[in-house]
Amino acid sequence: MAKRVVLAYSGGLDTSVAVAWLKEKLGLEVIAVAVDVGQGGDLEAVRKRALESGAVEAVVLDGKKKFADEVLTKALGANALYEGRYPLVSALSRPLIVELMVEEAKKFNADGLAHGCTGKGNDQVRFEVATRALAPELEIIAPVRTWNMTREESINYATEHGIKIPVTKDRLYSIDENIWGRAIECGELEDPFNSPPPDIWEMTVDKGENERDIVVGFAEGIPVSIDGENMDFLTLLSKMNEIVGSYGFGRIDMVENRRVGIKSRETYEAPGALALIMCHRDLEGMTLERELSHEKSRLEPKWAELAYDGLWFSPLMEALNAFMDKTQKYVSGEVRLHLKSGSAVVNGRRSKLSLYDYDLATYDASDSFRHEDAEGFIRIFGLGIETWAHKQKFKESDGRQ
Ligand code: ARG
Repeated sequence: MAKRVVLAYSGGLDTSVAVAWLKEKLGLEVIAVAVDVGQGGDLEAVRKRALESGAVEAVVLDGKKKFADEVLTKALGANALYEGRYPLVSALSRPLIVELMVEEAKKFNADGLAHGCTGKGNDQVRFEVATRALAPELEIIAPVRTWNMTREESINYATEHGIKIPVTKDRLYSIDENIWGRAIECGELEDPFNSPPPDIWEMTVDKGENERDIVVGFAEGIPVSIDGENMDFLTLLSKMNEIVGSYGFGRIDMVENRRVGIKSRETYEAPGALALIMCHRDLEGMTLERELSHEKSRLEPKWAELAYDGLWFSPLMEALNAFMDKTQKYVSGEVRLHLKSGSAVVNGRRSKLSLYDYDLATYDASDSFRHEDAEGFIRIFGLGIETWAHKQKFKESDGRQ
């Protein structure tokens, strides 16, 4: 049995109660680790709350840059959308959180890793599979899964142990947020026919701004500029969230298939992520050769599934990343996005590596395309169909065949 654990700490009710519970019931020393992935809020207050709840140590780690550069660039390279819609907001942060927690575990000589996930969600899978991959020697402890307390009982437990829980919307909904977006679930959203209450949205509030265009520049698959101004990816992403979000674009309302066999109604907002994926995919349309592009589109859903299922550290993910990386060296150029109330659409793109050839594409008469070659190409291309159609006719005219 572990003696000292690193706990993935958010500062919310469950993980605060977990600190006290692990100490009281299992006699563990708890090192609370909060990773800043852009969830906002006062993280110093979060750190203090961990100590007040009984942690022997509490650390806040800034994971934003690593998250942007090492995780989100890959997700963008793969145009990653689980079930075609969800940009994997929570799924992408978990492996990074585990990676940083494993480092802390080594630093503090911990022999266990704890998290505050329930038994019904995907996040427990991601925490635990990533831990198994990176540090199988750590014992995994999931207090929320075993303590059998109702929400009210946890609140009472918190009060009895002097834990102050700020009254937030988290108590109505389960919210997970980072720089890639925000996931809002539970509460009245659990009836899939209820329309999302307007007050759940934070990143996508239409401010009634004038219609405008913005131009996003990409270098080898990575967004590097807005309207010609260069910036690092983390800065660019937060700008995109702000700009595109202010048009109310980027909401998702769906019923999704969790890894654990449960369908759940989820709402997300991810203005920057969805806009960047749209631009990126569009630029690929211009710069990737047909076969490469088609094969990439077939592999993208698999990439998203692996990320969703918590298989971030896996040989297939490694191999898929190698494939995706290879494709991205062509993806440089600029994409223009038109923004207006509630919508963002691509309305132009250009690239030095463009495979779009005006001379080939134009319907003007004066071009170098050898029109006469088309006839023979099509005859041979359609030969199989012609043979088949001929046989069909033969069958119809002579029923015995
Ligand atoms: N359904 C999403 C996913 O599995 C969102 C999970 C959000 N997590 C949370 N603790 N509220 O990635």
